[in-house]
Amino acid sequence: MNQKAIIFDLDGVIVDTAKYHYLAWKTLASKLNFDFTEAQNEQLKGVSRVRSLEILLDLGKIHLEADQKKQLLEEKNEQYLQYIAQMDQKEILPGIDNLLHYLNLNKIPFALGSASKNARLILEKLDLIHLFGAIVDGNDVSTAKPDPEVFLLAASKLGKKPEDCIVIEDAKAGIEAANLALMTSIGIGGGKVLKEADFVLNDTSQLTIDFVQKLMA
Ligand code: BG6
Ligand code: MG
Repeated sequence: MNQKAIIFDLDGVIVDTAKYHYLAWKTLASKLNFDFTEAQNEQLKGVSRVRSLEILLDLGKIHLEADQKKQLLEEKNEQYLQYIAQMDQKEILPGIDNLLHYLNLNKIPFALGSASKNARLILEKLDLIHLFGAIVDGNDVSTAKPDPEVFLLAASKLGKKPEDCIVIEDAKAGIEAANLALMTSIGIGGGKVLKEADFVLNDTSQLTIDFVQKLMA
């Protein structure tokens, strides 16, 4: 049997940055005079920065010119980066540090498949980047999740067939992308949002070494 590989999403799977994306978008929405709820934020998870702004502006029924959008994207990222600057290893999600070190030690291949253009910066800051066999992020792809490009590229960088890959995701767009790539999908978080995942876990603490070993078998 072929050795399977794991592809991890970053925000909301490895590190608790999903809340910072939300807070930065919420600030932008208040500046534009509308409220942006956590439930609405589910639509932005896993989605590229540019597409997230489009969804946000649609929710606020706001039309802006390209240069104004560019300015808002810069503001959002600046605020997000201020949160990231304060972040440390305590914000690695439960069980993840242990799992990544276990996989690395046991030579089980794994990659990052993230929409974020800040992914490398964040992994460096958390001192996790050296553990990954391959990294594919928002700088490497031309189409964003739910398109499967990011995961297919990660699989090819690991030298794996899509059907031998397991994707771990907290976003609806990410689960869709994994399913379209014909990979096994594991959803982290609310079962309602992630109901299309092959397996749904409440949080990363359930992503135990035992669970992963069973998946690999
Ligand atoms: C995804 C997040 O991982 O990355 C989205 O779930 C975010 O919320 C996207 O918009 C892009 O991130 P960044 O860091 O390039 O703005
Ligand atoms: Mg995510």
